[in-house]
Amino acid sequence: MIIIRVMDMGDYPQLIDLWSNTENIGLSEADSPVNLDTFLQRNPGLSFVALKDEKIIGAVLGGHDGRRGAIYHLAVSKDYRNKGTGKQLLNHVTLAYAEIGIERCHIHVYADNQSGLDFWQKNGWFTRPELVLLSKDISRHVKIRR
Ligand SMILES: CC(C)(COP(=O)(O)OP(=O)(O)OC[C@H]1O[C@@H](n2cnc3c(N)ncnc32)[C@H](O)[C@@H]1OP(=O)(O)O)[C@@H](O)C(=O)NCCC(=O)NCCS
Repeated sequence: MIIIRVMDMGDYPQLIDLWSNTENIGLSEADSPVNLDTFLQRNPGLSFVALKDEKIIGAVLGGHDGRRGAIYHLAVSKDYRNKGTGKQLLNHVTLAYAEIGIERCHIHVYADNQSGLDFWQKNGWFTRPELVLLSKDISRHVKIRR
């Protein structure tokens, strides 16, 4: 039986193992222990793990900015795919969003991850061709001019 529960930092070693071994999951400094801990504390009850015999076989990160939700790193290990685990993880996040009044959430998908795109669209998510994502890296040493 697959059990879904809220993620905690004790899961970290297994999570890094899962994400490192999953295609189309890009890891960065945001996934360091200190940054994941900060993320989980800022977004309590929105990230989940799926366990089979106490081993993590799937996970998802959910966060929000008070207005929109953001989902990251949805992954199910290859041996356990197509059994409904990804969908269950997503259902947990979206239900948790509904409970705190977040009415829409977003996901960034690599443009060449056709399988991932198919998954999201199969599960009711829609692309936003009218929007383009722009990003900026923020240095820790930003100079403030007074
Ligand atoms: C995407 C992923 C999380 C799906 O997990 P999963 O546990 O295999 O998915 P589920 O079994 O819950 O599938 C739910 C539904 O989506 C469908 N589905 C699953 N993968 C699909 C795919 N690649 N394309 C289209 N539909 C898909 C299933 O058939 C199922 O449909 P149903 O509800 O009608 O039966 C998993 O394939 C994965 O980890 N992929 C690599 C990482 C990745 O790309 N993550 C997304 C990052 S943006």
